[in-house]
Amino acid sequence: MEIIIQETPEVATDVAARAVARLFQEKPNAVLGFATGSTPLLLYRALIAMKLDWSRITTFNLDEYIGLPIEHPQSYHSFMWTNLFQHVGIPKKNVHIPDGNAKDIPQSCALYEQQIRDAGGIDLQILGIGTDGHIGFNEPTSSLASRTRIKTLTPQTRQDNARFFASEAEVPNHVITMGIGTIMEARQNLMLAFGANKAQAIAEAVEGPITSLNPASILQMHPDAKVFLDADAAAQLKRSEYYRWVYDNKPDWQHL
Ligand code: PGA
Repeated sequence: MEIIIQETPEVATDVAARAVARLFQEKPNAVLGFATGSTPLLLYRALIAMKLDWSRITTFNLDEYIGLPIEHPQSYHSFMWTNLFQHVGIPKKNVHIPDGNAKDIPQSCALYEQQIRDAGGIDLQILGIGTDGHIGFNEPTSSLASRTRIKTLTPQTRQDNARFFASEAEVPNHVITMGIGTIMEARQNLMLAFGANKAQAIAEAVEGPITSLNPASILQMHPDAKVFLDADAAAQLKRSEYYRWVYDNKPDWQHL
């Protein structure tokens, strides 16, 4: 795990955006995994501003609410098209987001896994982290080997996400999410976390034991996981001085 701590979300995002842009150069037909929520918004703005060539890029999103019509403003379909896809000219057929309105959800989850395999696997996955340590919507106690499937949101996550809805009662209880096993197969994982409300989940994920009680902690087992933090999200890390030193003293040949 590589921990990159910058003072502000803007600077941390710039570093992450450069790592994503490098993949566009190295592999113009890359497969990218995307996340929703407040955290990646700055990254999406940065990627739009970079005017990259998205014509051969394929994308898979982490998750989607079950039962929200895709045109609902809070569906993750709406979120992704509004905040990223409509601005970058990606062909619609290259975009994959779990179908929260599928008649046969287990079958649609199996198909999603097949589509990821058919695309050659995910080269780079963007992740946020929940205040309860979730990645995707893999809530605490999710199997660390899980695949794309239905999950039930915790009261904490529904409360956290209520800010996007008229009331907490409107937040769906159920979601489809890529599994932790699915996320662990991405060749690179970039996790972003900003703000003091993420500090505890980040400290547990980075420095705590690997446990399904903090699903993000499994990234300690990933061969290429980077964690981009602002100072507030890094505030509870015990070894932050070391992480800062490592980043500031990277050899020239060792780019992010
Ligand atoms: P947030 O959500 O970016 O809105 O804080 C993160 C997450 O739930 O993964």
